[in-house]
Amino acid sequence: MLFSFSFIILCQTFLHVYGWGGIGHSIVVQLAQSQLTGSAPEWIRSLTPWHWNGNLSAMASWADSILYADTNPTGFGNWQWTRPFHYINVPDWNCSYDVNRDCINDVCIDGAIRNYTKRLQSSLDHIQHEEALYFLIHYVGDIHQPMHTGFKSDYGGNSVRVRFMNRTALTNLHSLWDSGMIDYRIQQDFNRNSSKYYEYIHEIMVRQFVPPNDDDIQQWISESLNFICQEAYFDDANRTMNASMTFNLTENYFRRVYPIFEQRLAAGGRRLGALLNRLAPASGSTQAPVSGSTQTPASGSTQAPTPPHSATDKLYLNIYILTAVFCFEFILSITLRII
Ligand SMILES: *[C@@H]1O[C@H](CO)[C@@H](O)[C@H](O)[C@H]1NC(C)=O
Ligand SMILES: *[C@@H]1O[C@H](CO)[C@@H](O)[C@H](O)[C@H]1NC(C)=O
Ligand SMILES: *[C@@H]1O[C@H](CO)[C@@H](O)[C@H](O)[C@H]1NC(C)=O
Ligand SMILES: *[C@@H]1O[C@H](CO)[C@@H](O)[C@H](O)[C@H]1NC(C)=O
Ligand SMILES: *[C@@H]1O[C@H](CO)[C@@H](O)[C@H](O)[C@H]1NC(C)=O
Ligand SMILES: *[C@@H]1O[C@H](CO)[C@@H](O)[C@H](O)[C@H]1NC(C)=O
Ligand SMILES: *[C@@H]1O[C@H](CO)[C@@H](O)[C@H](O)[C@H]1NC(C)=O
Ligand SMILES: *[C@@H]1O[C@H](CO)[C@@H](O)[C@H](O)[C@H]1NC(C)=O
Repeated sequence: MLFSFSFIILCQTFLHVYGWGGIGHSIVVQLAQSQLTGSAPEWIRSLTPWHWNGNLSAMASWADSILYADTNPTGFGNWQWTRPFHYINVPDWNCSYDVNRDCINDVCIDGAIRNYTKRLQSSLDHIQHEEALYFLIHYVGDIHQPMHTGFKSDYGGNSVRVRFMNRTALTNLHSLWDSGMIDYRIQQDFNRNSSKYYEYIHEIMVRQFVPPNDDDIQQWISESLNFICQEAYFDDANRTMNASMTFNLTENYFRRVYPIFEQRLAAGGRRLGALLNRLAPASGSTQAPVSGSTQTPASGSTQAPTPPHSATDKLYLNIYILTAVFCFEFILSITLRII
């Protein structure tokens, strides 16, 4: 477990995946990091892999990358239990979220955000805090992507086939919202420059209206659900989309909804930043956040008790070096095979 954790972190330097899409998640985390104050920047730095030099957004898609064979060839099977943490599904066209109906035993994105928030406030060991942080930054992004609070029958838009901009290759509604439309926007309107796009979203964030209850997850979910029920499922010709046929989406749809996903990226970044500021320990303390009871790993977790802090660090360093070597050899072997 410890081994596969660091292996993935290192190998992520070389291998990439897409969720909100790589870019969407990276924007959300970068926005959040730009909002950090007080002890939060140092706290985040202490929980970010050293080779990223404090750049948390490089870990924004970790929670996706652990799930797939192409990004986590040796360990993806061990993480499949986290799949349901990426979303909520509600009954079709029921435009409200009911925790007892849609998040049984807290197994959904809402439960996961509460869980990993709590774990960051508890005195767990360093590696569990890192893990909790990487899950949290990803899920706060996902919950702002309306398709992650989508309908049950089409798996949050995954089985709604769409043809985007007359392209021959089909995609699906979920994927289009995760990344297809963001990519198109950057390509069409930002000269393919994602830094420029980040600056633009940052501008939206600082000008954005901040509603009351901005820290309330229920509020985030109900906003996403409203976009699902009022905008996302209507095609170019304002027909309701479903899994029974392929729908064409072109400029008409795109121009209508891009302001929505941009508002969502900005809101996700702002809220994640505020959340991390709240979670950061009082300055001076380099250890875990103060509040909260000592929480042991949830039952069913296979994680063993871990050694004291300094021992962990040493162990870590050794493992990092070892994994770096393995990782290098792994990449090399792939490269050689391709050549
Ligand atoms: C941080 O990492 C992200 C994603 O890998 C990258 O796009 C961004 O440019 C990096 N930022 C800095 C300041 O290095
Ligand atoms: C959604 O479901 C709840 C019960 O779970 C029900 O009270 C409500 O009326 C439903 N709303 C719609 C729009 O179907
Ligand atoms: C809470 O986190 C722990 C540790 O990753 C995990 O074992 C458990 O399944 C999580 N529970 C929920 C509801 O997210
Ligand atoms: C898609 O096809 C329609 C009808 O042929 C055309 O009017 C439209 O300009 C095309 N859009 C794009 C983005 O190619
Ligand atoms: C992309 O945009 C950034 C920020 O506006 C700018 O500094 C950079 O030079 C641009 N890159 C390219 C290749 O145009
Ligand atoms: C699209 O359809 C929905 C309901 O089917 C309706 O509420 C909305 O006003 C329509 N929008 C336009 C632009 O016609
Ligand atoms: C699917 O959508 C099409 C177009 O809006 C509609 O004609 C059809 O009745 C829908 N099918 C179902 C099962 O809802
Ligand atoms: C979508 O566009 C294709 C041509 O690009 C057309 O053959 C098809 O009928 C259209 N589908 C719908 C549902 O309008």
